[in-house]
Amino acid sequence: MEVIVARTPKEVKEIIRDWKKQGYSIGLVPTMGYLHEGHGSLIERAVKENDKVMVSVFVNPIQFGPNEDLETYPRDFDADLQMIEKLGADMVFHPEPSDMYAPDFSTTISVAGVSENLCGARRPGHFNGVCTVVTKLFNLSEADRAYFGQKDAQQLAVVRRMVRDLNANIEIIGCPIIREDDGLAKSSRNTYLNPDERKAATVLSKALRTGKQMIESGEKNAEVVKSKITEIISKEPLAKIDYVEITDWNSIEPVDIIDRSTLCAIAVYIGNTRLIDNFIYEV
Ligand code: PAF
Repeated sequence: MEVIVARTPKEVKEIIRDWKKQGYSIGLVPTMGYLHEGHGSLIERAVKENDKVMVSVFVNPIQFGPNEDLETYPRDFDADLQMIEKLGADMVFHPEPSDMYAPDFSTTISVAGVSENLCGARRPGHFNGVCTVVTKLFNLSEADRAYFGQKDAQQLAVVRRMVRDLNANIEIIGCPIIREDDGLAKSSRNTYLNPDERKAATVLSKALRTGKQMIESGEKNAEVVKSKITEIISKEPLAKIDYVEITDWNSIEPVDIIDRSTLCAIAVYIGNTRLIDNFIYEV
């Protein structure tokens, strides 16, 4: 069946009203478009677990800082639409910023603590922008379930906390990181990398793999693991570390000893492109 394209919140609401009337369960996959297999895996899972699936394709301006890549963020709606249709989703929501934010828009959602370290510390206001748009999408879609990739691990933790704190009536499903054959985590921003940078970018997953093996072999001192990861990345001339951190997976507070579920997260510039990657260690 052909996927429905909704351009405005009003159109979405009409479709959702109809779906709700018929008693359908609804899955939401929020994206910024330029879809790759990582997004594909979220859509596939949503299609399996829900009667109807809405995918949003919206480059959300309020989650970008003034010197970030809002203007250059890759966009290809026709290709996105083809992929979404092929995977069997039912509706694509593709609004303009002016459809989402009135000129006097004045409400934002902010999640303290969990959004303050890692990317939150480097990208001030980023998670307020994410939480605000995600809440709008939750409200519009009235979804039963929403699907997020673990690649943006802190985002997943922040959204989970927000949903818990605000008693939002939605289940958050975290889905595994999808990687290229050489280990690089799939990301729309990989497209910024030139061939040399693309090769260099494999250092992120290599360093993380070593870190994970160390923990699995019994190393519980976070500083020792972080030092090894830092050492491996520093050997790559095109790489510049933004952060290497090990935190509690729930609170995103740094830990000294790896004695609980932890997130090991890194952000690394390869040339001018900032890439993130991570693994979660469950005790
Ligand atoms: O992960 C993303 O692509 C974005 O942060 C999201 C969740 C679609 C909100 O704009």
